[in-house]
Amino acid sequence: MAKTKSVYVCQNCGADSPKWLGRCPSCEEWNTFVEQRITTSPSRGMRETLSGKAPLELAQVSPEEVNRIDLGNREFNRVLGGGLVPGSMILIGGEPGIGKSTLALQVAMSTSRPTLYVSGEESPQQIRLRADRLKGDKGENCQVMAETSLQSILDQVRHSTPGLLIIDSIQTLYSEDLESAPGTVSQVRECAAGLLRVAKEKHMPVILIGHITKEGSIAGPKVLEHIVDTVLQFEGDTHHLYRILRAMKNRFGSTSEIGVFEMTGNGLREVSNPSELLINRQSSDLSGSAIAANVEGARPLLIEVQALVSSAVYGTPQRTSTGFDTRRLNMLLAVLEKRASFKLASKDVFVNIAGGIKVDDPAIDLAVVSAILSSTVDLPIDPSTCFAGEVGLSGEIRPVNRIEQRLGEADKLGLKRILMPAFNRKRIDPSRFGIEVVEVSRVREIPKLLFG
Ligand code: TYD
Ligand code: MG
Repeated sequence: MAKTKSVYVCQNCGADSPKWLGRCPSCEEWNTFVEQRITTSPSRGMRETLSGKAPLELAQVSPEEVNRIDLGNREFNRVLGGGLVPGSMILIGGEPGIGKSTLALQVAMSTSRPTLYVSGEESPQQIRLRADRLKGDKGENCQVMAETSLQSILDQVRHSTPGLLIIDSIQTLYSEDLESAPGTVSQVRECAAGLLRVAKEKHMPVILIGHITKEGSIAGPKVLEHIVDTVLQFEGDTHHLYRILRAMKNRFGSTSEIGVFEMTGNGLREVSNPSELLINRQSSDLSGSAIAANVEGARPLLIEVQALVSSAVYGTPQRTSTGFDTRRLNMLLAVLEKRASFKLASKDVFVNIAGGIKVDDPAIDLAVVSAILSSTVDLPIDPSTCFAGEVGLSGEIRPVNRIEQRLGEADKLGLKRILMPAFNRKRIDPSRFGIEVVEVSRVREIPKLLFG
């Protein structure tokens, strides 16, 4: 006989407890426990082997050739590791308004697979309006449905078996088996698990869209990240045009690929040559601008760093950065002050990464430091020079990875000179690239190298 009992589940992290608690012992949030009823079937005791699934010798398991599904979108395919694996479940997270629904609808319309696009947020008319704005594919194979009940969606899927299911968004779905509201941890978990079962059963890939909380994690679901095969993050600044799709977890590919898109009046455009758009050669006579030869994920990307250094008006100088970690900026300023004797303590310093891009690659340090120096002395850096190098606390320029890729990209875009760590310089053959390689080993050498 089935038994029903109560558990209390933390709505923030998903921890459960048999009693109500004021504060979650796991994530330390207050007042997050909500009662939930669960029905358990009596255990069936030890069974013989489950449907004949005895353990197999690993060597005897025949490697299955996966035929990845082409989504009709090169950047998206690239992030997934060459297309979608049948039966896999993908979560796309991103801030509101970043373009998740647009991306999902474009994929639904561009792939040749029959796709079911389920929206819990928009009506079919609104989806049609959006589709009309998008250029290109007509979406003959795309069906849309406005639905939030998990059971209705599952019925529909079992009935028609689409080649791809898109759920916009997982937080709007609810399962009739649970009493809690849509978007709570238990609903999200239950709905994702239900969808996962049909995905594996029917060998149908599922793309879930997930909202992101203020803190930047995909709402509720640490739980979700474990369930799905791939977690993608769609990021960028809503005021800028560029969007980056990054893999945070990928069971079927590497997490080092990124996809770059540009938001236009008619949808997201794939950007296959991001460097050309991110650097501006017009600002050649302006001080405070430096080009970084970065690698985001596995992709070389030339990025323009801008810095402005001015005398502080108020007692405490301001240090602000957009797209670059402010604590790291403070550290670089301290290094410049102490190791290169640049007096910046009474200066306001602003750093901006052009294009609204966020960078994690530490190799951008050298460009940031150079842009700050350039703005301080008010002398422009030669616009055909670029930089790659991490700055250490004692003012040393530390080696960076993938140096050949950086050189290749800089060369491809017609840059003439690169400043790079002396350590990296020893390990490459610069004659392979049509670019002058200048080695730097300490921060204090930079002014002389740049301005003579
Ligand atoms: P949307 O995909 O609804 O974002 P999300 O689902 O992540 O919340 O789209 C967000 C923004 O994109 C919206 O403010 C309008 C803009 N947009 C364009 O600029 N061009 C377009 O063709 C479309 C469809 C949207
Ligand atoms: Mg949306």
